[in-house]
Amino acid sequence: MATVLVVDDRAAHREIARATLDSGGHHVLEAAEGRQALSLAKSSHPDVVLTDVLMPGIDGYQLVRELREDPDTAAIPVLFFSANYREDEARPLAAACGVSRILSKEASPQELLSAIAHALNGQAATVAPGGTGFEVQHAETVNAKLVEKVQALDESEARFLAMAEAAPTGIVIADADGLASYVNPRLSEITQTAAAELLGRGWQHCLSHDQRQALQAGFRCLPPSLLGQRRCERLPLRGGQTRWLTILIRPVRNSELAVTGYVAMIDDVTAVEEANERRRCAERERQDEERRQVAARLDSLTRMAGGVAHDFNNLLNIVMSFGQFVREAVEDTAGAQLTQAQAQAILSDVDQIHRASQRAAHLTHQLLTFGGRDTVERAVLDVNVLIGEVLGMISGTIGEHVAITSRLDPHLRHVLASSSQIGQVLLNLAVNARDAMPDGGSLHFETANTCGEPAGQAADLPGRDWVRISVTDTGHGMPPATVQQAMEPFFTTKPLGQGAGLGLATSYGIIKQAGGELIIDSLPGRGATIHLYLPASYQPVDTSGQVASASASASASAGQTILVAEDEDGLRDVITRMLTGAGYHVLAASNGQEALAMAGRHDDVIHALLTDVVMPAMNGGDVARQLRQARPGACVLYMSGYAAPVMTEQGLLDPGVAIVNKPFTRDELLNTLEATLSRQPPREKL
Ligand SMILES: Nc1ncnc2c1ncn2[C@@H]1O[C@H](COP(=O)(O)OP(=O)(O)OP(=O)(O)O)[C@@H](O)[C@H]1O
Ligand SMILES: [Mg+2]
Repeated sequence: MATVLVVDDRAAHREIARATLDSGGHHVLEAAEGRQALSLAKSSHPDVVLTDVLMPGIDGYQLVRELREDPDTAAIPVLFFSANYREDEARPLAAACGVSRILSKEASPQELLSAIAHALNGQAATVAPGGTGFEVQHAETVNAKLVEKVQALDESEARFLAMAEAAPTGIVIADADGLASYVNPRLSEITQTAAAELLGRGWQHCLSHDQRQALQAGFRCLPPSLLGQRRCERLPLRGGQTRWLTILIRPVRNSELAVTGYVAMIDDVTAVEEANERRRCAERERQDEERRQVAARLDSLTRMAGGVAHDFNNLLNIVMSFGQFVREAVEDTAGAQLTQAQAQAILSDVDQIHRASQRAAHLTHQLLTFGGRDTVERAVLDVNVLIGEVLGMISGTIGEHVAITSRLDPHLRHVLASSSQIGQVLLNLAVNARDAMPDGGSLHFETANTCGEPAGQAADLPGRDWVRISVTDTGHGMPPATVQQAMEPFFTTKPLGQGAGLGLATSYGIIKQAGGELIIDSLPGRGATIHLYLPASYQPVDTSGQVASASASASASAGQTILVAEDEDGLRDVITRMLTGAGYHVLAASNGQEALAMAGRHDDVIHALLTDVVMPAMNGGDVARQLRQARPGACVLYMSGYAAPVMTEQGLLDPGVAIVNKPFTRDELLNTLEATLSRQPPREKL
């Protein structure tokens, strides 16, 4: 269509005009100031000139006047496009210069395009400059506009100042080098520093160490991380006080989009941050308290479970032993006083008693494990190897719909624990994970060395070296109430008959007994991670067992003397009957002191002490120690589920010492006793 020369010192304004003219199909030339416009007009002969009025250097009036003076350009129609002059102000002088139209910068695109069309139709005035009055009229018009502009500037500055001085936020106006030329009173208040000291570089004390580091290259290379982001920093200010400040720095750009300075807004949010910190502290304390309560509840439960299980074992031992005596009596008399049929009926009843007792014994064993009072054979273990074995075991049984992965630390420290127990824990966790993922998912084993644990629930762990084993699944997870109760014995959410609620309880007992921690991290729908923390051991891995296992050997120790200490009368009778039945000579005492007194009165060799571990007044460990002072050759065999009180700090039994777990059968007792006696034959008498 037509070629239009757009003259404006502001790139943004030229851009707007160009967009409109482009849409009207015009070809646009641009000039940023009058001199450039004159030479372009001369060389390119535009069809129309669209020019701003108030411009540095040659203004719009001067431009049109010079165009008119040159015969080459005199006839080009000129339109004023002004943000500063109103039509009535510019009209007289514009008319004198032969300007066809004065458009406001707020004119719509249609208005602009129709004004251009109008000018192209030759309807625009192209009057030659009018006589000598122009210079005077031009100066008056420009002067009047400047006065008006200065007044507007003063008013705007006063408004800005009122706003900045009353602002509740600290404000800094800085140049492109970050040197402040203005700071508001609030900033002085926040920083307790006089405004004069904050000017120039002074205000930069409010920047954090990181921010100042980022500013090493100066404000002209301000990294984007510092711009436009509100950052909350704890800053030491003058007078030793520390405040939380948020600092927001924004660049100020000129019309060419170059950064000419910065505005920084600095707010003191100490009160808010302190309130947040108080809230966080209260929340941490609440969680700590909740954990303490869970731990206290579990602690009393473990004591109760351990105590009940111990007493139950004694009773079960009696029930099972008498069951066995009945069986033997019936077998002996079958065919004589009893018919075979009668004997069979009694034996089948006795079998029922035996089976029920064994089930009960299994249950009490689990309760003892939860109570951390199980008999353990601890050894120095490489947990990675153990996990490898467990993975081999479960991969076939856990189901193809569960993907099993692991990330094991190759430099994992060792632990001192029972490999069978830790294996059992890992199996319990894997089964729980499988049950939580009926539709499939993934099960992940991870090991790592840690020292204390900086975050989360394990924050209470004392600062020592730990081995962490984490088992993670992507199952249905647990709500907080379940997490709190999951380690209690008999707590289960599974349908009747599908879960006894003892898996995590026994795992908890095992880990606690090994000096560790079991921590559940789970949310509904987000899977579960069970972290096991075990104290690290720096000993080499032990491949031999710590406690000699009882192996039945058929050597005849009959005739040897056994000192028995057992406070449960019924069980003492049972043991005496079993031992005398096997040909031993028995000295039976109902407590530790009585046993020592009996030993003192006995002139002959005592080959072995068979003692309960937990007894009133004096425990089995003390009885054994005192007896062995007087009779170093005597063997010791403990009967208990309670191993802990007779173990050394490393969790080991003294040499020549063994344990038979209650409830035991006659064969188990006799075999273990036999094995103990054959390992450590008594060397001396009394
Ligand atoms: N990985 C897990 N994801 C979701 N819930 C779990 C997970 N592990 C345990 N739970 C929840 O904790 C409860 C107690 O677990 P625990 O292993 O002690 O008992 P159980 O699995 O129900 O029965 P048992 O292990 O004696 O067969 C479970 O019933 C279940 O609600
Ligand atoms: Mg379970």
